[in-house]
Amino acid sequence: MLYPIELTINGEEFRFNVPANWRLIDLLRRDLEMTGTHEGCGEGDCGACTVIVDGKAVNSCLILAVEADGCEIETIEGLADGNDLHPLQEAFIQEGAIQCGFCTPGMIMTSKALLDKKPDPTEEEIRRALQGNLCRCTGYEKIVAAVKAANKK
Ligand code: FES
Ligand code: FES
Repeated sequence: MLYPIELTINGEEFRFNVPANWRLIDLLRRDLEMTGTHEGCGEGDCGACTVIVDGKAVNSCLILAVEADGCEIETIEGLADGNDLHPLQEAFIQEGAIQCGFCTPGMIMTSKALLDKKPDPTEEEIRRALQGNLCRCTGYEKIVAAVKAANKK
């Protein structure tokens, strides 16, 4: 059985009929081919799948698509404006905060949710916000530096 839902994704309105067991990440990656949202653990542990749902950073592997009915979703695909990168994307590149890149979309979406809510966070607040996002490459220092740099922009 399929369930009708309506979502706004990166400012665009969509209607879908989805199976009850589809997660939000399934809808994004399979139906919309928005593969910038990565699936790591699939269990809420790594944060690679983070998107913003009604202003909050959410693990898209932990929310059913039907639960997101009526919500406003932001994904990494919505950040750049044509060829102009979002300040967070620029800062991650400039600060060397990207190595393999697997964690990067989730890191950036969590950081965006933080900066949208709190434009001048302390280092502790940045680290606390990012505690659910794992990175096996960078050692985190450059990621924190990138969020600080993006904030200044
Ligand atoms: S894939 Fe969702 S938290 Fe790891
Ligand atoms: S850059 Fe490789 S996991 Fe973070």
